[in-house]
Amino acid sequence: MNAFKTLQYEKERGIAQITLNRPDALNAFSIQMRDDLYSVLEAIRDDDDVRVAVLKGAGEKAFCAGADLSEFLTAPPPVQSRKIRFERDVWGLFTRMPQPFIAALHGYVLGSGIEMALCCDIRIASEDARFGLPEVALGIIPAAGGTQTLPRVIGRAQAMEMLLSNRWIDAQEAKDNHLVNLVVPKNVLYDQAWEWAKKIAAYDPLAVRYLKQAVVKGMDRSLPDGLDLEKILAARLKAERPPQK
Ligand code: COA
Repeated sequence: MNAFKTLQYEKERGIAQITLNRPDALNAFSIQMRDDLYSVLEAIRDDDDVRVAVLKGAGEKAFCAGADLSEFLTAPPPVQSRKIRFERDVWGLFTRMPQPFIAALHGYVLGSGIEMALCCDIRIASEDARFGLPEVALGIIPAAGGTQTLPRVIGRAQAMEMLLSNRWIDAQEAKDNHLVNLVVPKNVLYDQAWEWAKKIAAYDPLAVRYLKQAVVKGMDRSLPDGLDLEKILAARLKAERPPQK
């Protein structure tokens, strides 16, 4: 399937692969890309054949250089924006995806680029990756979940520093502050993401889904409530398995 203007979508042996595909604009996140991403995420969510997904960017220079600045001054008025957000809550959908997502990050990973990566469960960066949140310098704030997802991943103080200072960090610093899981040479970035995806795709898909649900939903609960959730999901998983002979 490749019906999208700004994305490439492929599926192979239970692994979905989404490629942000506007390399001439450093894969800047446009309104069209938001609509394409929403459609592809819905398709993945509803496709039981997809066990895991990989998100990456086309071209040599960037995973994604943030919001499309050419649309910046032509953005719809706030009331219309709110309506669009309500109808197509792409970030709400992304953070609730049942399958695990792996982000393969290279070059510029800015603004909504980081925010998309933060909606994923595992982040792998190549050595040339650079991460930054320029929103405040443009007089806006992140609107793709970054103010909520970044502190949850790297902690409040580190997140505030990145958000307030517009200081860009390299791959090693991103690894040191747990923004990414692993840093690899650029020529093996996609192989590495693919290897992890293959491994996850080989596990029991229901166990993988329940595992993700337990962690993601549990993160927003108190520890006792999270433990209750884990107990429920573990019991449900056991009940849904055919009895062993
Ligand atoms: N929106 C729209 N187009 C963008 C873009 C963005 N966020 N970032 C880069 N591009 C386009 C450039 O306009 C340029 O297009 P052109 O070849 O038609 O002139 C092309 O991508 C290549 O970018 P260029 O600036 O020439 O590359 P560079 O290597 O010199 O610089 C960056 C790379 C990322 C430092 C620079 O492009 C930049 O600062 N981009 C904006 C980052 C930003 O503020 N994003 C918004 C976050 S909220």
